[in-house]
Amino acid sequence: MLFEQVAAGGCRSYLVGCPDTCAAAVIDPEASQVDRYLALAARDGLRIRYVIDTHTHADHFSAGKQLARKVDAPVVMHRQSTVPTVDMRVDDGDMVIVGKLRLQVLHTPGHTRDSMCLHVADRVFTGDTLLIGGTGRTDLPTGDSSALYDSLFGKLLRLDPATLVFPAHEYKGRDHTTLGQELASNPRLQVREREAFIELMSSLNLAMPDHITEALRTNLSGGKTVAQMLAEAAATVPFMSMQQLQQRIGARDDELIVLDVREREAWEAGHIPGARLLPRGQLELRVNEELPDPTSRIVTCCEFGRISTLAAATLREMGFQRAVALDGGMKAWREAGYPLESAPVRH
Ligand SMILES: [Fe+2]
Repeated sequence: MLFEQVAAGGCRSYLVGCPDTCAAAVIDPEASQVDRYLALAARDGLRIRYVIDTHTHADHFSAGKQLARKVDAPVVMHRQSTVPTVDMRVDDGDMVIVGKLRLQVLHTPGHTRDSMCLHVADRVFTGDTLLIGGTGRTDLPTGDSSALYDSLFGKLLRLDPATLVFPAHEYKGRDHTTLGQELASNPRLQVREREAFIELMSSLNLAMPDHITEALRTNLSGGKTVAQMLAEAAATVPFMSMQQLQQRIGARDDELIVLDVREREAWEAGHIPGARLLPRGQLELRVNEELPDPTSRIVTCCEFGRISTLAAATLREMGFQRAVALDGGMKAWREAGYPLESAPVRH
């Protein structure tokens, strides 16, 4: 089996491949690692056939749909998943066949209703059902400690104790464990009675994960994260450095239009010398009167350099083929000590 573990912060995802057939699957892909999965598969001569999420994640951004569409493979999740972009729903006992590898589905609800583990050869991908020295939490949407108790003690922990455990999260840098080691030392598994386990899980008082609203919004709908929107826009536009812009202003480059897409108050308080104001919210409506020449060279700017990227991408989409975005925003421009101009006082 070809095997790669990809760590992104506390998230762990996996590429498993069949060396005989070159078929592969990615398990729990994370949004920032799409290029890495593609690169690892290419390096090993693998074709990604399945993109599998072990559950609806509330704490990280799944790249399930994004990666699956790129490689023309189905998104696989448990049938209890409510994610509309799932292409292949699987049930307990089903197998996902990846070349000569057989990924056995174990439905293990508890962390979420749609949680599953994938057992293949000597290892099991446990998602958030079982972590190294811990378990997934049960206090987030569709979590259920009693169900987790059954999933662990009635199903997962009945596999061979030598089975290697690869979880979807690990925060202390360890890469795997075994079911036997977890049974012996995982603090949450030392409580063997159902009621005591439920009591333990409800007493954890965990803080809400970061970005839970955005993670659930995007993971449940297949919608895009803000970072993804920005990355997609950034991939379609060139940028201009602040130093280059300063030189052009110093050289009185009249051909260049500096377009400040912040709101009027921000522009009035201080803008790049000569910058014209066209707030992002009015861009499409006022573009024809404000920018009559589609061949103009335009550099967009905003406070942090993110909205200006979206604005430059929109301008390019509308036919302004020379629109670029400032690499950085007004905050960085001010901090670098570059020149500013204030709006004349209005009477
Ligand atoms: Fe999770």
